[in-house]
Parts: sequence; C-alpha cells; structure tokens
Amino acid sequence: MGRVSGKAIIVTGSGSGIGKGFVKILAAEGAKVGVMDLNRSAADAVVAEIAASGGQAIALTGDVSKRDQVQAAFKTFVEWAGRLDVLFNNAGFNKPMPLLEVTEENWNAIMNVNGLGVLICTQEGAKYMIPNKSGKIINTASIAGRQGYPAFTPYCASKFAVNAITQATARELAKYDITCNSFAPGVVDTPLWTALNQDLFDIGEAKEPDSAMNEFGAGILKGRAALPEDLQGMALFLASKDSDYMTGQTIMIDGGMVLV
Ligand SMILES: NC(=O)c1ccc[n+]([C@@H]2O[C@H](COP(=O)([O-])OP(=O)(O)OC[C@H]3O[C@@H](n4cnc5c(N)ncnc54)[C@H](O)[C@@H]3O)[C@@H](O)[C@H]2O)c1
Repeated sequence: MGRVSGKAIIVTGSGSGIGKGFVKILAAEGAKVGVMDLNRSAADAVVAEIAASGGQAIALTGDVSKRDQVQAAFKTFVEWAGRLDVLFNNAGFNKPMPLLEVTEENWNAIMNVNGLGVLICTQEGAKYMIPNKSGKIINTASIAGRQGYPAFTPYCASKFAVNAITQATARELAKYDITCNSFAPGVVDTPLWTALNQDLFDIGEAKEPDSAMNEFGAGILKGRAALPEDLQGMALFLASKDSDYMTGQTIMIDGGMVLV
C-alpha cells in the first residue's frame, strides 16, 4: 500500500525538473497522476516513463495562466481519474533583468504564470474539491518568496504572491476541509538553471556562462544544490494524510540557505 494510494493528483509543470520528480514518486506510491505542462511532448515522455514502471498517469496540455486551457485540462483529468484530491501548482519560470531595466512585458509575463497561474489553477481545482469537502493544494514558492535577490525583482514579487495566495486560500477554503500549503526550494539543479546560467552571465551577474547556479548557491549549508529527488519526501508528506493538520504554511526546503 503506497503513501498516496488511490489519490488523484495533478502536478502543473511536471514535464521537467521538480514537478517531474514529484509525479514519479507520487505514481510510485500509488496515486493516479496528471502530468500537466505547456510542453506536450515533455508530458508524454514523463507519462511513458511512469507507465513503464507500472504507474498510472495521463498527459495534460495547458498554460496555467489561461483559464480555458486549465478548465479543459482539469476536466480531462477528472474524467480519467474520477476526482481531484491534490493539486500541485508548480509551473513557473524566471527571466532575470537588472532592476532598472525590468520592462512591463517582463513583469507581466512572470506574474502571469507564477502568480495568476496559481490563482486560476487554485480556483479551477477547488471547484472539484469543494463538493467532496476535502482536498489539498500545494504551491511551489521559493527562497525568492522570503527575500529579494538582484535581477530577480518580478520573480521575487511573484513568489511573495504565492505565499499570499497560499495563506488566503488556506483561510478561505478551510470550511471545506481543503488545506493549502507551499514549499520554498533554494537552488535545485533543473533545466530552469540552464537558462538562468546563461541569462545571469549575459547581464553580468555571473562570472562564467555556466557558473551562476554554483555562485548563487555558494552559501548552502548542505554544501550543494538540490536535485529534484531531494524534494520528493516533502511532496509525499504534503500530498498524504500525514499533513492533514497543517495549512497556510510555507516549508523551507533549501539545504539551509535562508534561515528566517
Ligand atoms: N530550480 C530551482 O532552483 C527553483 C528554486 C525555487 C523555486 N523553483 C520553482 O519550482 C518550479 C519548477 O521549476 P523547475 O526548476 O522544475 O523548472 P523547469 O524549467 O525544469 O520545469 C518547469 C516546467 O514548467 C513548465 N511550464 C512553464 N510555464 C508553464 C505554463 N505557463 N503552464 C504550464 N506549464 C508551464 C515548463 O514547460 C517546464 O516543463 C517553478 O515554479 C520554479 O519557479 C525552482
């Protein structure tokens, strides 16, 4: 019997990185998982990997910031799985810019996906949970939701917004026995950093084209960046009944980078 046996779980942005690690462990522990991503071929590949290991998964295509696409993807999932028990709002991205050069386009693009996308998916997911009077919503925040970083102004604002949405959701949906928590990674070695390494070098925030991740993570007490596998145990805890009495919280899981 797995720790999330029989649970129906969607993870947005699970065609890659952290989300991919989550759907793999959740399926291995008995959940039916929805692998939702902008990138359909990436979602298909993750579903094939899970199926090859004997797990149950379905690929869902959609941009989390587009309500009609989210509605269509969630409907497809519920028709397949029968219900929605847990939603991970994990899709997100960053495009660094020096403070004085941040454009409206840059701000809007990041806030749309990382902020509005969490709101839209929370609303559309909650519509399936409220009739069941149970559910768990889990948001991917960041150390950048605890403190500001140079060249990350819109990204930090979006992750502070995730904490705000988490608390407001927890208060508002408690009457339906729906909990909402988030977790805050530090530096996780995923494809997100492939782009960030180059972007931070291009704007003079890193010494070499591939050094930004290690420079950024130099103060990690655990002495290294995380791998997606380092976050899997926490994802299982948050998705399982073990976290039933917890809501409105943000778990720091950053190897000891930010101690507040
Ligand atoms: N990697 C890190 O160091 C780190 C640290 C803190 C927080 N985070 C957060 O973790 C989450 C996952 O990041 P990751 O490192 O796994 O990145 P990643 O780039 O490896 O994976 C993100 C996935 O999300 C998908 N995606 C992007 N925009 C989307 C949209 N609008 N709709 C649907 N899917 C979309 C991408 O196609 C990609 O497959 C993000 O919210 C990110 O901000 C990452």
